[in-house]
Amino acid sequence: MEPRHRPRRLRTDGIRPLVSETALSPTDLVAPVFVDATADERAEIESMPGHERVPLAESVARVREITDTGVEAVILFGIPDSKDDAGSRAWAEDGVVQRAVRRITSETDAYVITDVCLCEYTSHGHCGILEEGAESDPRLTVDNDATLERLDRVAVSHADAGADMIAPSGMMDGMVEALRSGLDRAGHEDVPIMSYAAKYESAFYGPFRDAADGAPAFGDRRHYQMNPANAREAHREVALDVEEGADVLMVKPALPYLDVVADVRRSFDHPVAAYNVSGEYAMLCAAADRGWLSLEAVAHESLLSIKRAGADLIITYFAEDVARSL
Ligand code: PBG
Repeated sequence: MEPRHRPRRLRTDGIRPLVSETALSPTDLVAPVFVDATADERAEIESMPGHERVPLAESVARVREITDTGVEAVILFGIPDSKDDAGSRAWAEDGVVQRAVRRITSETDAYVITDVCLCEYTSHGHCGILEEGAESDPRLTVDNDATLERLDRVAVSHADAGADMIAPSGMMDGMVEALRSGLDRAGHEDVPIMSYAAKYESAFYGPFRDAADGAPAFGDRRHYQMNPANAREAHREVALDVEEGADVLMVKPALPYLDVVADVRRSFDHPVAAYNVSGEYAMLCAAADRGWLSLEAVAHESLLSIKRAGADLIITYFAEDVARSL
């Protein structure tokens, strides 16, 4: 019996590239960079092989390594010199991210995005100001409205330092609107906001929390980050950020949430970003280390899949490796 349809005709070597629907380019990728105000030397992040925390003095060199691969954008995370209840080093003019941004934007051509959150700066590791009694009462958590005012200061201080784009990741209600109006008031109307619009309360952030020293000292983030069970809620969350003025819409994590990436792509016209997070990276590295997977192949396939699902840009720890191999 002969088949009537032969899709294999389009899989010969000559035509395969012509009918390829998705392509990856180094300019789709954003590389995370960890700048550590407490370090004088680069330090390998154990659970994220190939990634390091770098001291301020090395921040420009680190970004140059990235741009040499063809990746043009970085997202900065800071490890501050000290922490307190309010996370006040997050908006200090001489804070670690502010200083790194000044150096990197004056000495490189990289497009510099900053993560705006308080969890790396608060002594309790939560993403905002705590409600009274939160340490001992699991029903209490971060005070949404008090936190907005602090995030506003953080965003403006990053933009004052020269950040090209602001990426708020705290999952506070009204966050995008508060930051947009704060940036506008400070004369930063042209600084876009990439909102972590649908950010889940995910166990895949583990290695990052080691890297950035931002794990909550008690409890978890389930009262502000989204429940992994919910996709329709993601749609509502993203719609709010659109209405509040977000320029780019991010879904995070990426691979376990490609249904959400695809829905955001179909439902909104804005650029869609996906964050291929630390746990997604660590899993593949660990398996490759045991010889169970080919790292280059699975990294490429992962990013291609994220793009195929609808992401325009991908924040990924694979950025340099994949860009080099393209
Ligand atoms: C800060 C922030 C986190 C990540 C990015 N920004 C940690 C968290 O929400 O707990 C995670 C990134 C990753 O796992 O690669 N709020």
